[in-house]
Amino acid sequence: MDTADKHAPDPIPKGRPLTALEEAERARVQALLDTRYMADLGPADAGWGRRQFLFLTSVATAFAGLNFFVWPFIDSLNPAADVQALASVEVDLTPIKVGQSITVVWRGKPIFIRHRTEAEIAAARSVDLSQLPDPQPDAARTLKPEWLVVVGVCNHLGCIPRGQRPTDPHGAYAGWFCPCHGSHFDTSGRIRKGPAPNNLAVPQYTFIDDEHIRIG
Ligand code: FES
Repeated sequence: MDTADKHAPDPIPKGRPLTALEEAERARVQALLDTRYMADLGPADAGWGRRQFLFLTSVATAFAGLNFFVWPFIDSLNPAADVQALASVEVDLTPIKVGQSITVVWRGKPIFIRHRTEAEIAAARSVDLSQLPDPQPDAARTLKPEWLVVVGVCNHLGCIPRGQRPTDPHGAYAGWFCPCHGSHFDTSGRIRKGPAPNNLAVPQYTFIDDEHIRIG
């Protein structure tokens, strides 16, 4: 590993059997690679109600889901340059209609991408910041008002909040709800009620053009 992440653990020596934990992690990563790109699209049209899966990205994109623990597996299979490319993932926003959400995997984390409605944007921007446990204006959490991109991990105990699917609970603030101990997030992904100490994090991302973003 010459140019690879210096924090990555050493590769697993050839011939050494994997531990049960390593086997489980490898299976988890394989599942990520098989899934590649998961979409939970909300009801943009009447009658839209079932979960849909989109397989829009390349295998290289899927590798963005790998985390440090599985690095040894990948490092034994790929040159460092390939591994470095995993740090970012590009997402085509065109299939996501207003009112819909998708989940993509980036660095082993679920990333929620929501195409917000005008009402959701207005709700997010009309909040009195002094009432928020983790005050942050919506405009500071979005690059474009209609697109919200957040890490879908509750920072209480690390659960994945619900609210991506149309049939999910969305909590008291029409965003996401973490059933672990009842954290409610608003349409900006900010914590509004419950034990989570912070808002859902906004990952580093940029707009490549009007319809594509690069996360990471
Ligand atoms: S992990 Fe979200 S409320 Fe506990």
